Amino acid sequence: MAVKVGLLGLGTVGAGTAAILLDPAGRHPLMADIEVYRVGVRSPNKPRPVEIAPDRLTTDLESIVTDPDVDIVVEVMGGLEPARSLILKAIHQGKHVVTANKAVIARYGDEIFTAANEAGVYVLLEAAVGGGIPVIQPLKQALGVNRIHAVTGIVNGTTNYILTRMQQEGGDFEPILADAQKLGYAEADPSADVDGLDAADKIAILASLAFGGRINLADVHSEGIRHVSAADITYADQLGFVIKLLAIARRDTCPVSNEVLDQLQLRVHPTLVPKTHPLASINDVYNAILVEGDPIGQVMFFGPGAGAGPTASAVVSDILSIAASLKSQGATQAPNPLLACTHQHYCKVSPMADIVSRFYVRLRVLDQPGVIGQLGLCFGNHEVSIESVVQIDLHDGVAEIVVVTHEVREANFQTALDEAAGVCVHSDRAQRTAGVVDHQFR
Ligand code: NAP
Ligand code: HSE
Repeated sequence: MAVKVGLLGLGTVGAGTAAILLDPAGRHPLMADIEVYRVGVRSPNKPRPVEIAPDRLTTDLESIVTDPDVDIVVEVMGGLEPARSLILKAIHQGKHVVTANKAVIARYGDEIFTAANEAGVYVLLEAAVGGGIPVIQPLKQALGVNRIHAVTGIVNGTTNYILTRMQQEGGDFEPILADAQKLGYAEADPSADVDGLDAADKIAILASLAFGGRINLADVHSEGIRHVSAADITYADQLGFVIKLLAIARRDTCPVSNEVLDQLQLRVHPTLVPKTHPLASINDVYNAILVEGDPIGQVMFFGPGAGAGPTASAVVSDILSIAASLKSQGATQAPNPLLACTHQHYCKVSPMADIVSRFYVRLRVLDQPGVIGQLGLCFGNHEVSIESVVQIDLHDGVAEIVVVTHEVREANFQTALDEAAGVCVHSDRAQRTAGVVDHQFR
C-alpha cells in the first residue's frame, strides 16, 4: 500500500518536494510507493510549477493533519503559527512529521519532540539546516558514535552571499544587501538572516543533535553582519583572514587546565577566518558545516544551503526514511531510536562574557604623540595582551589602527574597549578572530 503524504505548503520547497515525489523514475525504488495525497495552500488558484489535481488541493490545512488516511505530514509552509499548531495536531493524530522549519523547531522543539515521543511518531528535519546538505541524519547516525567536540558552520546563504560580494568587490554592506534583495537572494525583511537569527536557530538545532541535549534558544549569542564594513574586510584580507558569519557550537574547556567542561559555547558572529581554513573558501550562497569529534577527527559537509531542488531533496530524504521504517517495521512497532529524538535535558551554556577568543578591532585615534601608549594601557589594564598593532591609514590628522589581541576573556576585552573609547575618535565594533579554529589550521 502507498505511503500517503499530506503536504502543508506548495511554495518554493513544497513545489520542489512534490516535483520529486511525482517523478520517482531513476530514484530510490521505494519512492514509487509514496503518494502526494493532499496539499494545503493559501491561494488555490495561484499558478504552480507542479501539476496537482484540483481535488487534492485545499485551503483547510487542519483537514490534512486530521485526515485518517495521511501517514506523513510534511510542513513546508514556514512561519511560527499556524505551523506549530498544525505540527502538534498531526502528532496527536499519530502522524509522522517532516519539516523544513528551523524557526519552529528551534523555539518549540521541546514541546514538539515531547509530544512526538509520547505519540510514538517521528519528527524529521533534515531540510531545516543546510538546505540540501545531509547533516542532520549523519549527526544522528553515522557520527553519533563519536564524542563531538565542535560543530562550526556557515549556515546562512544570504549573509555568505553578501560577505562574498563585499570581499570580491570591496563594496559596503548596505548597497550589496539592496542588490541581493533585487536579485531575490535576500528577503524584503532581511533581519532574520543579516542579524544572525536564522543562523542561531540552525546552530541550536545542530548543537542539540551533536551534544545530545535540548537547547534554550535564548542561550545562543547572536550578532549579525550589519556592522561589517568594506574597510574591515580589506584589513582582514591584509592580515590573512576572510570574514565569515560563523555559527559555533563547541564543548567548552577550562582556559587554565584545558579540562573539558559540562557546558557548551553557542554563538553566531562575524569571524575572521584564516584564509587557509576550509570554511574560508565557502562562498556565495553555499553552506558548509565542519564537525570535529573523537575519533573521527574533522568532517566537512558542503553544498547548497537553500533553493527549491536542494531543500526538497532533504525533505524527501526524510519522507523516504519514514516510508522505509513504515514498510519494514509496521506503524505500530517501537520507533527506531536512530530516527527518534532521545534528548531529555537542557544543555548548560557558557556565558558569552567567559568565552576566550582572539579579537580584531579597528580604532580611529587622533594622530598625536602618546596615543598608542594610552591605548596599550587601556588594554593592559584589563589583561588584554596585544598580538599585533598596525597603523593602516592616516588622513586629516586621524590615524586608523587595527589591533589583533591574543586569546582573552570576552568580558576583559569589552571592558578594555570601553576604556579605549575615551582615547578614540571612533571605534568600530570588535570582530572576533577565529580563535576557535585558527590554531588548528594555521
Ligand atoms: P514559501 O515559498 O513562502 O511557501 C509557503 C507555502 O505555504 C505556500 O505554498 C503558501 O501558500 C503556504 N502557506 C503559508 N502559510 C499558509 C497558511 N496559513 N495557510 C495555507 N497555506 C499557507 O516558503 P518556502 O521558501 O517554500 O519555505 C518553506 C519552509 O522551508 C520555511 O520554514 C523555510 O524556512 C524552510 N526552508 C526554505 C528554504 C528555501 O530555500 N526556500 C530552505 C530551507 C528551509 P500559497 O502558495 O498559496 O501562498
Ligand atoms: N534564509 C536562509 C538562508 C534560507 O539565507 O540561508 C535557508 O534556510
